[in-house]
Amino acid sequence: MQIKMKKVKIVTRRRGETTETWIDVPDTGEEGWGDVAGMKYVGQRHQRIDAVEKVTGRAKYTYDMKLPGMLYGKILRSAYPRARVVRIDASKAAALPGVKAIILPDDEGAADLLRRECRYAGQEVAAVAATTLEIAEDAMNLIEVQYTELPFVVHADKALESGAAQVQDDRPNGSEPRVNEQGDINVGFAESEVTVEAGYKTEVHTHVSLETHGSIAHWENGKLTVWASTQAISATQGGLSQFFGIPNSDVRVIKDHMGGGFGSKLGPRPEYAVAALLARKAGVPVKLMLTRKEEHITTGNRPDSFQNVKIGAKKNGKLVAYRRENFGTGGIAGRASIPGQPYLYEVPNFRVEQTDVYTHGGPQTALRAPGHPQAAFAMESVMDELAAALDMDPMAVRQMNDPDETRRNMVTLGAERFGWDKRRATPGPATGIQRGMGMGAGVWGGGGGRTKAEGVIHPDGSVEIRCGTQDVGVGTKTVIAQIAAEEFGLTLDDIIVKIGDTNYPPSGGSGGSTTCASVSPAVKNTVQMARLKLFDTFASSTFGVSPHDLEAKDGKVYVKSDPSKSMTWQQAAAQLGDEPLVVQGQWVPGLSSSGVPAVQFIEVEVNTATGVVKVVRVVAVNTSGLIMNPLLWESQVNGGVLMGIGYGLYEERIMDPRAGYMVNPNLEAYRVMGAMEIPEIEVVAYNQPERGVIGIGEPPFIPTAPAIANAVYNACGARVRAIPITPDKVLAALAERREG
Ligand code: MOS
Repeated sequence: MQIKMKKVKIVTRRRGETTETWIDVPDTGEEGWGDVAGMKYVGQRHQRIDAVEKVTGRAKYTYDMKLPGMLYGKILRSAYPRARVVRIDASKAAALPGVKAIILPDDEGAADLLRRECRYAGQEVAAVAATTLEIAEDAMNLIEVQYTELPFVVHADKALESGAAQVQDDRPNGSEPRVNEQGDINVGFAESEVTVEAGYKTEVHTHVSLETHGSIAHWENGKLTVWASTQAISATQGGLSQFFGIPNSDVRVIKDHMGGGFGSKLGPRPEYAVAALLARKAGVPVKLMLTRKEEHITTGNRPDSFQNVKIGAKKNGKLVAYRRENFGTGGIAGRASIPGQPYLYEVPNFRVEQTDVYTHGGPQTALRAPGHPQAAFAMESVMDELAAALDMDPMAVRQMNDPDETRRNMVTLGAERFGWDKRRATPGPATGIQRGMGMGAGVWGGGGGRTKAEGVIHPDGSVEIRCGTQDVGVGTKTVIAQIAAEEFGLTLDDIIVKIGDTNYPPSGGSGGSTTCASVSPAVKNTVQMARLKLFDTFASSTFGVSPHDLEAKDGKVYVKSDPSKSMTWQQAAAQLGDEPLVVQGQWVPGLSSSGVPAVQFIEVEVNTATGVVKVVRVVAVNTSGLIMNPLLWESQVNGGVLMGIGYGLYEERIMDPRAGYMVNPNLEAYRVMGAMEIPEIEVVAYNQPERGVIGIGEPPFIPTAPAIANAVYNACGARVRAIPITPDKVLAALAERREG
């Protein structure tokens, strides 16, 4: 073999342990991704390779799939927030023609999925499978359940009151506060010349993935195949094999197209196991997809937050002290934490105290940048209030206290593109229709690792790239095709991308904006090796050169120093004889990194008579290091901004304190952005190609809500300290302003 190799060190951190391994990678003499500016695919705008499939409806999502003889599953859920099941009678349901399987809490294997102790309205109690969805629904309604209703509490502030119903048997509703401190806040506040103290609130937020959760389970000879709408095929495989006590290798998880997850589809979901249990009992495949209502109440949410903040600064704007006490509810399980230090800014003295509160609500789960939008809302609001108290430009106060040079540069760039110099120095009047400008910022990680990939070059020249990652709707398949097409000198159409199947080499879950930075380096390493191995079969014998002296471009393979010596890609592949070339590669360092700021500038229009806020214009500045595909990247930023506007203006889970259930589990009363609310969005890239690939899914969502709140204040002097900024809150803040 004439391929030159070099050693690179891979550092892995898992469960607190760091391991170092050295692996061999091709030594091409090139660092990182090379000169991307001159490339045809990597770093260039290309539409999704599955765009036509998607817009024509040919793309099959889990929701669209059907297997022969398949049944439909439904889950019966507790309508009460806290209740004990004393009796279940499923005999009427069982007698309904078309019903093929029923599982109840006491059935074998059901104990972890179905409960007799219900702790939130929506908890799983029983499940049925029938020949049609309608029969399954009828059967579900025929199951007679007798409950003993028990006391409950669904709001975090009420759950902390003495005498509140206790959610978990073995611990109080409020956790011991987690404290993080630095310096001495008493000294800091004594030194402060200006202080601001205020309380901020954010609401429970749900994911609203357009495709609801669910799966199709199919058993064959004791082996389980599951088609699931999931962000994590590997974790789903692991979870299901553990649940059923069968080897990992006996569970195969497949996910092709998917309608979003935003963090709610990262784990082995209980409804997958319910479907598999029903399928095993019925002996045929079972499809179980959740309804929109189930989606809102059971598949997780972003916890709310109550944040009491005090901040102190010198007259010149330099921060000296910061104190925050915050609590929130993750429902019956999980924490409600937000970043445990002053978000974004450097403060010498701080103290943060956080409390998680249990309530009788559906469990929290990751939702686009967990914790960060809550932290950003309070921090960026209080910084704006501080600037007003100091009579300074809020941008100047931020810049002076921001230790991150990249973010400071992004703020400067964004301010220029936005026209921050045209912002009113003091709020507009509380009358008529007023416009105002505000800004916000955030930070995220987004690094990668832990991914293997496989490249196959067939003797006829066709190419496959296989990777056990998943495209959650962002364009992962396309980025894989771009990297391979670039390396092989082919077109995007020439690359067959196979992902979303646990039979392929493993990758992690698509969470934390890690997918692009995990998959891209693994694919690059794989195709680089595949290309050199292919060239190695003929470089010397045909051209008398080393494989490193050849390059692939425009469907041909050339001798770099003498382009007249060439052959077509097909001729090159034919040198393989009758065996395909299969190469495995993995994530390697030097092609990706982590850590990105995000900045947004927003202009709003406030109708001071109705309290209605309209976002008019957004300038979003983000960085991703090397942007693999600016078209897909902009789409992610647009999506983040739109979701951010929804979080800032419209979206909230509303719980009835007396009935204990969510009263808006739909898309009519739980309002997400619609076409009519979409503003002008300018997406600005702060390019840092030398850093390699970094994810973009989460960062653009973080700064939006506080930027809106600050713009509302700038427009009309209404300081709204709670999101969503609904008209009633704007009118109340205006009234407060008028009363002085
Ligand atoms: Mo994300 S909330 O880590 O899918």
